[in-house]
Amino acid sequence: MYILHEKFTKVLRKRSRMCMIMLLQLKRCRKFNSSLDLDLTPLKTFQDSTNGLSLASDPAGIVNFLNMVNNLQGDSGRGYYMEMTLGTPGQKLNILVDTGSSNFAVAAAAHPFITHFFNTALSSTYESTGRAVAVRYTQGNWEGELGTDHVLIPSIPGTLTINIAAILSSEGFFLPGVNWQGILGLAYPLLARPDSSVEPFFNSVVRQTGIPDVFSLQMCGAGLSASTTADPAGGSLVMGGVEPTLYSGSMWYTPIKEEWYYQVEVLKLEVGDQNLNLDCKEYNMDKAIVDSGTTLLRLPVNVFNSVVEAISRTSLIQDFSSGFWGGTKLACWLKGETPWRFFPKLSIYLRATNTSQSFKITILPQLYIQPITDVEGTLDCFRFGISSSANGLVIGATVMEGFYVVFDRAEKRVGFAVSKCAVNGGIAVSEISGPFSSADVASDCAAGGLLKEPLLWVISYALMAVCAVVLLILLLLLVLPCRRRNRSGEITDESSLVRHRIK
Ligand SMILES: *[C@@H]1O[C@H](CO)[C@@H](O)[C@H](O)[C@H]1NC(C)=O
Repeated sequence: MYILHEKFTKVLRKRSRMCMIMLLQLKRCRKFNSSLDLDLTPLKTFQDSTNGLSLASDPAGIVNFLNMVNNLQGDSGRGYYMEMTLGTPGQKLNILVDTGSSNFAVAAAAHPFITHFFNTALSSTYESTGRAVAVRYTQGNWEGELGTDHVLIPSIPGTLTINIAAILSSEGFFLPGVNWQGILGLAYPLLARPDSSVEPFFNSVVRQTGIPDVFSLQMCGAGLSASTTADPAGGSLVMGGVEPTLYSGSMWYTPIKEEWYYQVEVLKLEVGDQNLNLDCKEYNMDKAIVDSGTTLLRLPVNVFNSVVEAISRTSLIQDFSSGFWGGTKLACWLKGETPWRFFPKLSIYLRATNTSQSFKITILPQLYIQPITDVEGTLDCFRFGISSSANGLVIGATVMEGFYVVFDRAEKRVGFAVSKCAVNGGIAVSEISGPFSSADVASDCAAGGLLKEPLLWVISYALMAVCAVVLLILLLLLVLPCRRRNRSGEITDESSLVRHRIK
């Protein structure tokens, strides 16, 4: 789920307001778009991931990774969730796994779209901190109070004490058809609300259990024909390391540029074998992140237009309505006539840990031309799994379903390997290859001209400086004419104007 990092926009907004007040008509004050996305549109359903299990990998001797295989349920449209037990005595809840936010928040009051909630009054170990907390998204928000309680997660021994945001009211957050009642934000403290002093769930787990500061995620809903409800697809959230039975081939790592979201650096995009050839900064405008809580692959507007142009050129199907690319219309074929062969592969090049190299993750059309529950009996309908974004590139579930993704926080890197469950009709729907030289790419595609946090601070301070300078000029204008009047006894139009305004 994509949340906006509100802390600095608030600062910026406050600065902007000050600037506005002081300088009225000085139109320098940039308004920052505070919109947020909640991206959980209902989509497809079921697949059973039948992973051949092999030997347990248990390097630290604390957890057994194999016990965590298949601990998730869900799909890309409604998210992947895990069952957890909260409080004393335990209350079972399904919790959405989200690498794009940092609060552990659960429903603590009834809501029409959820079957049950965490009743804090029934837990003897729940402690309220009395602090209010709220998160806003474009299409929704929630509010609640901060507390702590015991949490049990399958395969992690012992009782953990975790910060919990108890959601008391919400709008557009819980959606019809979702089978989860809370959200597990797995990103860094910088994104935690109300501030980064609220230790995120996984930080608490690592501190209290001593497991390695690594988790990995496999989501198994790849390219499946949706058959209405049935059982949801499976997946795995492995806490503490990497389970080798979940992937094939090599694991490729890309550095985490900054620790807030899982921000990575995209160097290049290819549609088919065609390089899009955009300035690599466009791909990271204003950031590129890996977010399990976002359904689609989201691309900055320029990149999106360019990708759509390239896909429609190569797809040999010229008569798609723009509604299909825009996400408002489905494309349907006669049953059994899957359209994937008409579409090209899509490759994303990521900076390798050896920064003069890159590797590419490739998704087949089976991942981005997504089957949805049939609307008409004789037709199979599909939607476009890529959308345009005003706040950066988001590698969402559409792409992640092709890979086993390792969030190696200890080494500040994100790993990708071909997921063993990313198979459709016997065909692997993802590929990964490298290394490629990145000599032809800028040394830093994620810097310069980008509204990253440090830059926002610079901008806000620059605004302050501008304010200060102009205020100084105004004061001088006020003082100087006064002196002049003392000398000459005359009041110029200009000085009186200024004086009237100040009065
Ligand atoms: C990094 O990549 C460059 C270019 O491919 C290569 O020459 C160099 O040996 C690599 N460095 C390491 C430490 O592998």
